[in-house]
Amino acid sequence: MTFQRACSLAELTDNAPLRVEVDGLDVAMVRHEDEIFAIEDECSHAAVALSEGDVDDCTIECWMHGSRFDLRTGKPTGPPATAPVPVFPVQVDGDDVLIDIESPLAG
Ligand code: FES
Repeated sequence: MTFQRACSLAELTDNAPLRVEVDGLDVAMVRHEDEIFAIEDECSHAAVALSEGDVDDCTIECWMHGSRFDLRTGKPTGPPATAPVPVFPVQVDGDDVLIDIESPLAG
C-alpha cells in the first residue's frame, strides 16, 4: 500500500466534491457525513467528471445521464452506467488526506 497526499482536510466541505490529481490520475474527493471517500473522477459510461455531480445518500451523481455511484463501492446504483468506478482507500494524517491509488477497493 502506498498512500499519497490528495488534499488537506480543510479543503473538503461536506458534499462538495473536490477534484485532485494524484500521480496523473484524476480523483474526486468527497466528504460525506463525517466520512471521506475517494473515487476516480471519470464516469464509467463516458468521459465525464464525477466531481461536477451532486452528492446524496452516499452516492455521487454523473450530471450527464444521471447514473449514481456508491461512494463506498464505486458500483452504479442505476443505468445507463453498468460498470463500477474504482474507489480508493483513504487515510487521514493530521490535516492531510491520503489515498492509495494502487489498491482500488472496487472497479
Ligand atoms: S456519462 Fe455518466 S451516466 Fe452517461
